[in-house]
Amino acid sequence: MTDTPPARIGIVTVSDRASRGEYEDRGGPAIHQYFTEVLTSAWEPVPRLVSDDREQIAATLMELADREDCPLIVTTGGTGPAPRDVTPEATIDVAEKLMPGFGELMRQVSLTKVPTAILSRQTAVIRGRSLIINLPGQPRAIAECLDAVMPAVPYCIDLIGGPRLETNPDRIAAFRPKK
Ligand code: MTE
Repeated sequence: MTDTPPARIGIVTVSDRASRGEYEDRGGPAIHQYFTEVLTSAWEPVPRLVSDDREQIAATLMELADREDCPLIVTTGGTGPAPRDVTPEATIDVAEKLMPGFGELMRQVSLTKVPTAILSRQTAVIRGRSLIINLPGQPRAIAECLDAVMPAVPYCIDLIGGPRLETNPDRIAAFRPKK
């Protein structure tokens, strides 16, 4: 077996209150826990905690994509309609390609759990060799949303030239079309 380096996964919590220390970050740890349960290939977290500031979020996403070499970056929080909710705008600011199917599917699945799922403007984009996915700030939304899109994430990362991600098939069966 060859020693492949662990896939680096950016985990970005977007929250004014958590970044000021007024509130414990529960979203970042929930994303970490999710990938611990789902991924069987080696990975390591690259965590960040930022305020609801469009430029700061965009700068963090660029840092994780361009310098920290993260093939996958997941954000939590700031996807709603409130004035300070700007995570989707910051995500689109750094995008090379829009991946609207991710937001569509996550909202569709979330709507079966909670009617306010329609309030999340969460999306996904490609920047270079990174897939960036927005999640709502509610910790329980993390598994609800990632379970919906995760079957397609490893193949998406294959297509953008990233490392091969393997999942525990009892939890999430990654789908790779036969060539
Ligand atoms: N999606 C799921 N799966 N579960 C949830 O509890 N909460 C909704 C929505 N999407 C929710 C969800 C609510 S109440 C809001 S306001 C929006 O996400 C935006 O949340 P955010 O601003 O914290 O990102």
